[in-house]
Amino acid sequence: MLLPILVLACAPAFAADGAAITEQAARGKAIFNDASKKTQCATCHQLGKEGTAVGPDLSQIARISPKALVISILSTRTVHAKEVQLKVGRKFPGMIAKETDIDLKIYDLSKLPPEEMTVPKTAVHAVRDNGTWKHPPESTGYTNEQLADVIAYIRWVSYGDTKGVSPAEVK
Ligand code: HEC
Repeated sequence: MLLPILVLACAPAFAADGAAITEQAARGKAIFNDASKKTQCATCHQLGKEGTAVGPDLSQIARISPKALVISILSTRTVHAKEVQLKVGRKFPGMIAKETDIDLKIYDLSKLPPEEMTVPKTAVHAVRDNGTWKHPPESTGYTNEQLADVIAYIRWVSYGDTKGVSPAEVK
């Protein structure tokens, strides 16, 4: 009975396939989950057990090239975010998290952290392509080293990568 307790107590962090976290991935994890920033990635992305799934699941795109990942992190164009216009009242940028026959679960991106709300479909006037909301890291100025660390973390947590990412790969 002692063994499981010991394992729990000593366990650093392990990726899905059991690979122990690398130094670089640990740095990336700290940036990803940096609670001193409102725009930390975990505010809007869930990876492993941490974070909130407002934005896309990054483990799905962990295998694309570091350069391509950085382009989507820094991109001012959006693919999934929408502009939601209610019949009465507001128009706001939102991520549709779930749609049923009667309502929409939406994250209101005008709030930080984004606010989860459920709106009856009958109250929605229109859902259009987003034209106003921009992905936050765009303005926070991460260095290439930091971006490489974050990507190393995304890769490690998603598929146990321990090779890491060189800052030259994100340029
Ligand atoms: C305020 C919320 C928020 C924060 C903070 C945030 N993201 Fe995002 N992210 C989103 C949303 C929403 C999208 C989807 C945008 C779109 O419509 O294309 C997205 C998209 C992405 C994408 C593209 C995913 C895809 O499948 O197209 C990547 C990569 C990404 N984010 C990485 C990051 C990283 C790394 C950080 C931290 C440095 C971060 N994000 C911080 C909300 C956020």
